[in-house]
Amino acid sequence: MQDMIELHDISHHFDTASERIGLFQGLSCTIRANETLAIVGPSGAGKSSLLSIAAGLEVPAGGTVCFTIDGVPVDALTMRANSGFIFQQFHLMPELDAIGNLALPLRLKGNRHAFDIAALWLDKIGLKDRARHRPHQLSGGEQQRIAVTRAFVTAPRFIFADEPTGNLDMHTSESVAELMFGCARETGCGLVIVTHSKPLARRADASLHLSAGRLEAAA
Ligand SMILES: Nc1ncnc2c1ncn2[C@@H]1O[C@H](COP(=O)(O)OP(=O)(O)OP(=O)(O)O)[C@@H](O)[C@H]1O
Ligand SMILES: [Mg+2]
Repeated sequence: MQDMIELHDISHHFDTASERIGLFQGLSCTIRANETLAIVGPSGAGKSSLLSIAAGLEVPAGGTVCFTIDGVPVDALTMRANSGFIFQQFHLMPELDAIGNLALPLRLKGNRHAFDIAALWLDKIGLKDRARHRPHQLSGGEQQRIAVTRAFVTAPRFIFADEPTGNLDMHTSESVAELMFGCARETGCGLVIVTHSKPLARRADASLHLSAGRLEAAA
């Protein structure tokens, strides 16, 4: 069973009213399930844009992206339905409590056991007693633990994380990283992380450095 994302000769730019912002040209890489990949590089290099392209959220200006699930080519929509996303700003639903946030992606997929599954995950991450707390009643670290878990509850093939520890102190970052990499290992899903954090990037199987439009193995 093979799940992978292949980027071939990708280029991308943004056109504004006055100029064209060129991000990169000729980028190629393969991302596989069961592997963890960090993308590092300076601010503005295009890391978030590359992540969006790899996740099938954005179509590159040039080149091709091939998505494969269970050895079968699929379109971006199918890929997205089999992916989880984690952001710097947590992005929890403010009107839902912790268990409601965890249950939401399962409910959206029509899972009738959504709340039971969410309860198991809450227990697993040690936040069972916070089930009825809404995001504003949780610490940043707790919110991100919920957001990380929410990305995994539907058993996705790939997780895409953009600066997942960017809003957290070092100690809290460690616990969120532990959870993220632990879940990826347990579930065998691919994990792609964009980060400025060296300790976080070091946890990944491989690191790619995006700078001045070039993607190279990071030192
Ligand atoms: N929708 C857009 N329209 C125009 N320009 C954009 C758009 N999105 C991003 N850009 C520009 O493209 C460049 C790359 O942005 P991107 O967010 O991918 O960088 P990044 O490497 O993730 O940076 P950071 O580390 O600061 O998050 C930046 O110069 C940004 O201003
Ligand atoms: Mg970014």
